[in-house]
Amino acid sequence: MAKEHDEIYELFRKSKHFVFFTGAGISTNAGIPDFRSPNGLYRLIDKTYDLPFPEAVFEINFFRQNPEPFFRLSSKLLSRNPEPTQCHRFIAWLEHTGRVSLVMTQNIDMLHQKAGSEKVHECHGSYSTSTCQDCGKKSGYDEIEKPLKSGQIPLCTCGGVIKPDVVFFGEQLPDMFYSYLRKPPMADLIVIMGTSLNVFPSAQFALDLAARVPSVLVNLSPTNYDMAMTHVVNEDLDVFAEKLWDRLK
Ligand code: OAD
Repeated sequence: MAKEHDEIYELFRKSKHFVFFTGAGISTNAGIPDFRSPNGLYRLIDKTYDLPFPEAVFEINFFRQNPEPFFRLSSKLLSRNPEPTQCHRFIAWLEHTGRVSLVMTQNIDMLHQKAGSEKVHECHGSYSTSTCQDCGKKSGYDEIEKPLKSGQIPLCTCGGVIKPDVVFFGEQLPDMFYSYLRKPPMADLIVIMGTSLNVFPSAQFALDLAARVPSVLVNLSPTNYDMAMTHVVNEDLDVFAEKLWDRLK
């Protein structure tokens, strides 16, 4: 393990064009559960949510019939005012040293930006903007923060439900994601953090890059793609980031 960490340190020290691909595991230390771990959201969502299956909370067809579970879950997540983790801050610090091409995140919690990262693409969208499902009017987070945090369904002046621009199952990922998939940013290292790599097409972005440049995957549990990586570390991300940050400073 120590040898592995030394090799990873060398990669981080030498790399000039980092690309990060992050998932829910980077935010668990901020108090936001991930999705598929034993204590993840899909197991925490219980019968009181009145869902046919847990993932339905993020399914667009289900949302159109019954948006209440999504807004109930959103209020739980947003009212906690989570703060970025050490690992978010480490990535932002690396960006400020001028060596990060892109942070591609599947997360909708906006914590990369809160930590100071700017080159972020949220491939599953986020709460920062919202769209009325009837008239298409756009609103910013501030405009619907109050109902979002209190678990109410935000309604447009036209009476339509205002849905945060989080990408649901059954919806297209942003066009920009497909641009990055076709033409990835400059990269000499891909660092994959806190994701089970279960959800496509987003995971494809990371796997394509890992086939071309050295890769480091840091995740508590094994994934189906460990064999495709140069280095795999099954460790808590904040522990990993702190050790590396100390040596790189
Ligand atoms: P998952 O819940 O599938 O995977 C999170 C991974 O992070 C797990 O494999 C954990 O072992 C790992 N993990 C958790 N805490 C960690 C920590 N402190 N340090 C290191 N690893 C840790 O979440 P994602 O892969 O992000 O999509 O899920 C992808 C997508 O599925 C989400 O964006 C969401 C979901 O359905 C939509 O809602 C569209």
